Amino acid sequence: MAEIQIIGVVGGGQMGSGIALLAAAHGIEVWLHDSDLNALNRAQNYISDFIQNIVPKGHRSQAAGSDALKHLHCTSNLEDLHPADVIIEAIIESEDVKRNLFSELDKIAKASAILASNTSSISITRLASATNRPEQVIGMHFMNPPPIMKLIEIVKGAETSDETFSITKALAERFGKTVICSQDYPGFIVNRILMPMINEAFYALYTAVASKEDIDTGMKLGTKHPMGPLELADFIGLDVCLSIMKILHNGLGDSRYAPCPLLVQYVDAGRLGRKRGIGVYNYRKKAEETKASARL
Ligand code: NAI
Repeated sequence: MAEIQIIGVVGGGQMGSGIALLAAAHGIEVWLHDSDLNALNRAQNYISDFIQNIVPKGHRSQAAGSDALKHLHCTSNLEDLHPADVIIEAIIESEDVKRNLFSELDKIAKASAILASNTSSISITRLASATNRPEQVIGMHFMNPPPIMKLIEIVKGAETSDETFSITKALAERFGKTVICSQDYPGFIVNRILMPMINEAFYALYTAVASKEDIDTGMKLGTKHPMGPLELADFIGLDVCLSIMKILHNGLGDSRYAPCPLLVQYVDAGRLGRKRGIGVYNYRKKAEETKASARL
């Protein structure tokens, strides 16, 4: 395949908007689709705010910033992704919803297109089996936030071809990322190790071993993690963490992966983390306190 020129991104949430921004900033035409118009508007605002914030800090010139925006097209019509060379899916972490989407993308995308999933843990082999091109389906797992984090974990499904792997790796390297390669087992590499740690931090909080602040401070200063595990869970989204734990639990069949009841309860209560203003920590309260102290 010639060099990738057009990318489709499906899902304009935390991850999809960051992936679209990254690709547009590297001079690639990007079509970003979300089924929710509000999400599409939020994605557009996030991308232009991000570019406006980095231009004054000298990371990019004004011209490069507006050039990136010119490469970005937002659409609520999935069929607009037809000309894409690679389509990266970043919708909710649900196997049924993703399989339906892959089956639809298989009909819409051109025959040579690669269909990649940013899933954190769902089997690439099973997503690929919803299409008639399993050799062109691959996992391309960006880290959050995609424009900043240096790693992309590439996941080969049972049928993924070597050519699909090489093209995807070259694309990740064009974005300036380091690539690691995982076989298609639950959680791949990063979440297989990270999520049980986050889940254990929830168990420590649930069984009153310590306060949330002490658990996070312990891991930050004691093990040199840039964020504590509970803070990180809020950043990732507690719903995403819970979905991944369920996949590890079902896929690996070991009770040590059972999601902590406190994590389940927070998700049931809609405490999904930063994106909802409340998770383990209350960000609404912090934002109000900051506003109040600015008024003093
Ligand atoms: P999010 O909840 O912020 O965004 C998901 C978006 O998908 C929403 O805007 C929603 O409207 C849209 N959507 C849902 N169903 C759709 C459909 N059928 N067609 C089109 N759009 C649809 O979720 P987030 O955090 O961006 O996660 C997306 C994917 O990325 C998940 O698979 C997640 O596991 C993975 N991921 C998440 C990371 C994180 O730190 N949040 C890190 C790496 C991967």
